[in-house]
Amino acid sequence: MTATDPWEVCESRFPASGSFAERLRFLLQYAVLAPSSHNTQPWKFRIAENRIDIFLDQERWLQVADDDQRELHISVGCCLENLRISAEHFGFRQQIQYLPEAGNPLHAASIQFEPNSSTVPQGDQRLFQMIVVRHTNHGEYDGRPIPESVLQELQECCRESQITLQLTDDASVKRKVDELVVQADAIEFADPAFRRELGYWIGQGVFGTSWLMSKIGKLAVTHINMGDSMAKKDSVILMSSPVLGLVSSTDNSRESQIQVGQVYQRISLLAAAFGIWCQPMSQIVQVEEIKQQVAQLQVDPELFPQLPFRLGFAQPEEHRTPRRPLEDVLL
Ligand SMILES: Cc1cc2nc3c(=O)[nH]c(=O)nc-3n(C[C@H](O)[C@H](O)[C@H](O)COP(=O)(O)O)c2cc1C
Repeated sequence: MTATDPWEVCESRFPASGSFAERLRFLLQYAVLAPSSHNTQPWKFRIAENRIDIFLDQERWLQVADDDQRELHISVGCCLENLRISAEHFGFRQQIQYLPEAGNPLHAASIQFEPNSSTVPQGDQRLFQMIVVRHTNHGEYDGRPIPESVLQELQECCRESQITLQLTDDASVKRKVDELVVQADAIEFADPAFRRELGYWIGQGVFGTSWLMSKIGKLAVTHINMGDSMAKKDSVILMSSPVLGLVSSTDNSRESQIQVGQVYQRISLLAAAFGIWCQPMSQIVQVEEIKQQVAQLQVDPELFPQLPFRLGFAQPEEHRTPRRPLEDVLL
């Protein structure tokens, strides 16, 4: 790790006596540690007096895997939640406005800040502390069951009225999801455009691989259909997970998708505080016919499935994924 590693952001460096803009800029160092599909980090920020505007960066949209921009909005929602949690930690009162600019769908949200009268950190401190610890864990989980009391706390992370969270340890649901993952992997990897897009991002080094491995990975993914081996690997890791989760919404609006990201981010941060890791499994909602089957697994099949994921205990991964420098995401 280098001194400029974005994961080494340290709260003691908060510029408490700096200008408002300097303090808001500091918060963005936490915002950008959010997860995003293929680590595309599809966000841009504008600091305007006492406000931060968050924009979607459409150039980083996954046009094949995410043709309806669901994941683009969810990713920005995860980033917004990191920003909200860190602002709360450093004592800012805040108000979020979703899609504040009529006619500009790229302007995902604005947060208006006011310094709080109290300097005591607000909110659940576990969430803030975990921003620099959380990561997506792609490995096998050790199968240990998640205690009911922890599941209850995770369930309470979902408090938005249009969003629902379903957590299940039902073995028959897990088997069904496993079948869907295998089918979705086969369909997606058979599509050269999907492989080209994934290959492009692997080649950019977004998953933290070395330059050489990124280039080899890009060539392999682009030119070889690895659907079979991916499906086998995904099946093993899925079946190792004691619990599966699904964040859904009552409507399919952009605001709801952003809020899905906020809920997922809260869950993954709180989970990390218990040594529990998460991994989204987007393939089953990226393929329309599979997504319809996912909808049928919900308590209410009318809900819109947005973000399926698995969770469980495991050793943390050693490497963190890279982040774009702040200068590149500031307007
Ligand atoms: C909307 C969304 C969808 C994602 N889908 C997947 C997925 O299908 N499979 C996967 O392994 N990771 C998935 N991820 C995790 C990202 O790959 C991960 O967040 C990114 O590489 C950054 O790494 P980090 O989470 O470890 O910081 C998804 C993340 C988001 C926000």
